[in-house]
Amino acid sequence: MISTRTLTAAALAIAIALPAVAHIEKTEPLQSLRQSYFALLGMTFGPMADMVKGDIEWDGATFERWASDLSGVTPYQVERGFAPGSEEGRTRAKPDIWLNIDDFNAKLADLRREAASLAEVAKAGDRAAIQAQFVATGKTCKACHDEYKAKDYLY
Ligand code: HEC
Repeated sequence: MISTRTLTAAALAIAIALPAVAHIEKTEPLQSLRQSYFALLGMTFGPMADMVKGDIEWDGATFERWASDLSGVTPYQVERGFAPGSEEGRTRAKPDIWLNIDDFNAKLADLRREAASLAEVAKAGDRAAIQAQFVATGKTCKACHDEYKAKDYLY
């Protein structure tokens, strides 16, 4: 049986390990929040791209799982991470976001819609349709990055 003491030690180890996570900066919680969200998107989307490109072997069940993960993450209210006052700090978010917040939010809505559709299509299992919907989803990432994400940190 696992003792309470062991569990407490494990919880402490996690708490101590947390500040080492690159995306969590106590002085920049909003920037950390949005970057963590996008990092999760990237680390889910990237392997899917590898599978679509054939860099890793196609496995419909795994792809379906990843698509489900992606559509599970996208609804998270990342808008909170773009609250006024979070323009600066260690960020690649362009200042244009805060000047065009309606357009930015519309692009976020595009992402959520296409990711939800990708999860549905992945369930149906038609590989050609899955790949087409994967591309449609990727376009929503690119549309926003082209306008609102800098290649390098701005500050
Ligand atoms: C509505 C706009 C928008 C959409 C849609 C969007 N992104 Fe981003 N993304 C950003 C912005 C802005 C940043 C920079 C955030 C910052 O540095 O504060 C970013 C950052 C990132 C990062 C870097 C995160 C880090 O480690 O700091 C990755 C990876 C990423 N996005 C992947 C994706 C993928 C994959 C998709 C689509 C599935 C996507 N994004 C869709 C706006 C968007």
